[in-house]
Amino acid sequence: MNREKIIVIDFGGQYNQLVARRVRECSVYCEIYSYKTDLEQIKAMNPKGIILTGGPNSCYEDGAPSCGKELFRLGIPVLGLCYGAQLMMLTLGGRVCKAPVREYGKIEVTVDKSSRLFGGVSEKTICWMSHNDYIETIAPGFQVIARTPACPVAAAQWEERNLYAIQFHPEVLHTQEGTKMLHNFVYHVCGCTGTWKMDTFVESGIQAIRRKVGSGKVLCALSGGVDSSVAAVMLSKAVGSQLTCVFVDHGLLRKNEGDEVEEVFGPHGPYDLNFIRVNAQERFYEKLKGVEEPEKKRKIIGGEFIRVFEEEAKKIGSVDFLVQGTIYPDVVESGLGGESAVIKSHHNVGGLPDYVDFREVIEPLRDLFKDEVRRAGLELGIPEKLVFRQPFPGPGLGIRIVGEVTPEKVVMVQEADAIYREEIARAGLDKTIGQYFAALTNMRSVGVMGDERTYDYAVALRAVNTVDFMTAETAEIPFPVLTKVMNRIINEVNGINRVFYDLTSKPPGTIEFE
Ligand code: XMP
Repeated sequence: MNREKIIVIDFGGQYNQLVARRVRECSVYCEIYSYKTDLEQIKAMNPKGIILTGGPNSCYEDGAPSCGKELFRLGIPVLGLCYGAQLMMLTLGGRVCKAPVREYGKIEVTVDKSSRLFGGVSEKTICWMSHNDYIETIAPGFQVIARTPACPVAAAQWEERNLYAIQFHPEVLHTQEGTKMLHNFVYHVCGCTGTWKMDTFVESGIQAIRRKVGSGKVLCALSGGVDSSVAAVMLSKAVGSQLTCVFVDHGLLRKNEGDEVEEVFGPHGPYDLNFIRVNAQERFYEKLKGVEEPEKKRKIIGGEFIRVFEEEAKKIGSVDFLVQGTIYPDVVESGLGGESAVIKSHHNVGGLPDYVDFREVIEPLRDLFKDEVRRAGLELGIPEKLVFRQPFPGPGLGIRIVGEVTPEKVVMVQEADAIYREEIARAGLDKTIGQYFAALTNMRSVGVMGDERTYDYAVALRAVNTVDFMTAETAEIPFPVLTKVMNRIINEVNGINRVFYDLTSKPPGTIEFE
């Protein structure tokens, strides 16, 4: 499909996904590509504009990520952000060096309101700065359009060429009018018209699936989470009973979750699809015996998933397509899109092992960020309760149990987690916290219960607030709520005698606790 598109060229900056999301919030489709992407490939994509992200390097050092001059001569508007801005200046003949004063945090910037980039923006506006280097001299042809006392070139433009460079980060919400600036770039510089709308995406997605599938049979891997549920409903709307949803209960789900999934998607639920529940708990536990390393656990669980699907597919007869609920951050985080390191393998990304004999994989949500998946879910008429469900990793409690997974530990973490969620909801906090769950540490320690000495496990409670799941802050849960959860877990869950609250933000931690 030839849709209006902005591309983000990723130089390894931590906000790269945020840039793409902000552009999409302006109703313009946006994708992320590594800076290593070939110029010809970029041209072939025919983007309406290009945004160069920030990055951890100094652009003047040997071997620093760069791009050729040609990128700026394509006639396509380019916006450089932070590292991207410095690179643009350096490449086109300006000078970038270590700044005499490092700027970090919210800084008041004075902007030239006559620039197309700053139309409707206040003359003095708070922006998020984070840089050690700065643009000392702008490149020929450019003009300074924003400054701070410490940063003589906070932004520059070469208006006739549609080239813009911004030292600060408009994609971060701390930049109070950042969205307006990106909106200006996308609409007033790139000339986008805003065709990226969720209802169109859903409708054209359904039609595309119908065309692709024809009379073929489709198998959907349903986990009960938001992503696979939205994918399943999209498929059921597209091809109805040609779709079979296989729900693998790997014994690593939250308390009662298997039955809840069956209630929604099973024969008594509202959707027209074939639903098969596979109770494969024992198989997974057996494979996980003695395995402690988290990445290994992920691989085992992912691999076993695929094998269970394969077996089901064989039982069903010939299956042509396999549906997966892969979303865009999975793609980028797996190193397939941008420049970010592979932090952990997501079992649901990047094709299938050789031994699976489906013809093709369908990933209807591969282009969407999480909040967009939710919007698509609402568009499809999926109940809000399901659409706003807590994220839950594919490998489930397998990666919320530190160390070896055993059936006994699964019960402990299920019970503790259920209590935690119940109390959070009772305190009215369930809508305000981004993601929260209990995890089982691999630590046992001595305690005393009644007159008895105990030697039991410690549970860690996690709660974070996050906009995009790439960074997260620990949520502040009132102490009385935590105390109540602690009391209940220790009194009600066998095998646990300590409760910790995890204060770690992401980075340096991850949201999951594995
Ligand atoms: P991390 O732990 O990477 O988590 O900070 C970010 C978000 O991703 C979820 N997550 C996963 N989701 N398969 C998934 O579908 C996975 O393997 C997986 N690992 C983490 C996590 O719950 C959080 O929302």
